[in-house]
Amino acid sequence: MSKIVLEHIDKFYGENHVLKDINLTIEDGDFMTLLGPSGCGKTTTLRVISGLEKPQGGTMTIDDKTVIDAANAFYEEPSKRGLNLVFQSYALWPHMTVYQNIAFGLKIKKLSKEEIDQRVMDSLRTMRIDQYKDRYPNELSGGQQQRVAIARAIASNPKLLLLDEPLSNLDARLRIDMRVELKRLHRETGTTIVYVTHDQVEAMTMSTKVALFKAGEIAQIATPLELYTNPVDLETADFVGSPRINMVDGTARYDGNELVVDSVLGQMTFDKETLKTTEEIPEGQPFDAVLDR
Ligand SMILES: Nc1ncnc2c1ncn2[C@@H]1O[C@H](COP(=O)(O)OP(=O)(O)OP(=O)(O)O)[C@@H](O)[C@H]1O
Ligand SMILES: [Mg+2]
Repeated sequence: MSKIVLEHIDKFYGENHVLKDINLTIEDGDFMTLLGPSGCGKTTTLRVISGLEKPQGGTMTIDDKTVIDAANAFYEEPSKRGLNLVFQSYALWPHMTVYQNIAFGLKIKKLSKEEIDQRVMDSLRTMRIDQYKDRYPNELSGGQQQRVAIARAIASNPKLLLLDEPLSNLDARLRIDMRVELKRLHRETGTTIVYVTHDQVEAMTMSTKVALFKAGEIAQIATPLELYTNPVDLETADFVGSPRINMVDGTARYDGNELVVDSVLGQMTFDKETLKTTEEIPEGQPFDAVLDR
């Protein structure tokens, strides 16, 4: 069980305002993807959630328990948040076998030998790497090492799994395989996942919800289908979808009933409702418009 609510999160690095009033609710069982171009604040948001960064403003709760209250300078320690973070660079201990790498964190928690063995083997099987348990990291491919890093994260039964571009070091083929594995992991364990990527195909195929970031702000939070069919603006429409959308210039006119649009594609008519504007629409005169479809 874990529901995470971020409210009015502001984060500065010096003068640089990198997170601007972030409001984000991650429901129990969500596969929430933070999507956006490089430098827009995805990793920073993940680090705020995990407790590695202290925001200057805002609050965060996990299951209604306050873990960040910036106004009162309260920041719960990362280790007490029950979260687990897998970074893009998956640092495995080189002198430990796969089994030992995963067991290490559980030993620190002082679990019994049987419990540790059970958890290690379960997580290895979930990630389909149990046959490599006695190998050392340098005897594994990058993709296999990445699976070990994820297995290590899930072995501790985290309330929440935070994944920062975990597939970025893999070749195209493995990325596709791992997408399927991660979806399966989500389905089978029901763990809430927050997943960071700048790859919109990953976001659209794996997530239950996508938070689209734009320069430190969240432009839209929606299911992949909503994001695709009903993007908030042209920029969002341009960012999601493969192949990219086509944009066509046209002239719009409102004839009292319908919008009449002339473009190189010919003349088309639309319901007034498809027009995204709050401004008064002049009758009979051409104007600039963004149409929904
Ligand atoms: N430790 C830091 N000190 C100063 N500025 C930082 C620090 N970490 C990140 N930033 C800045 O904050 C902004 C957001 O960075 P962040 O790492 O969150 O981006 P991102 O969306 O994860 O990008 P990418 O897709 O490239 O990983 C960037 O402008 C970055 O330069
Ligand atoms: Mg990043």
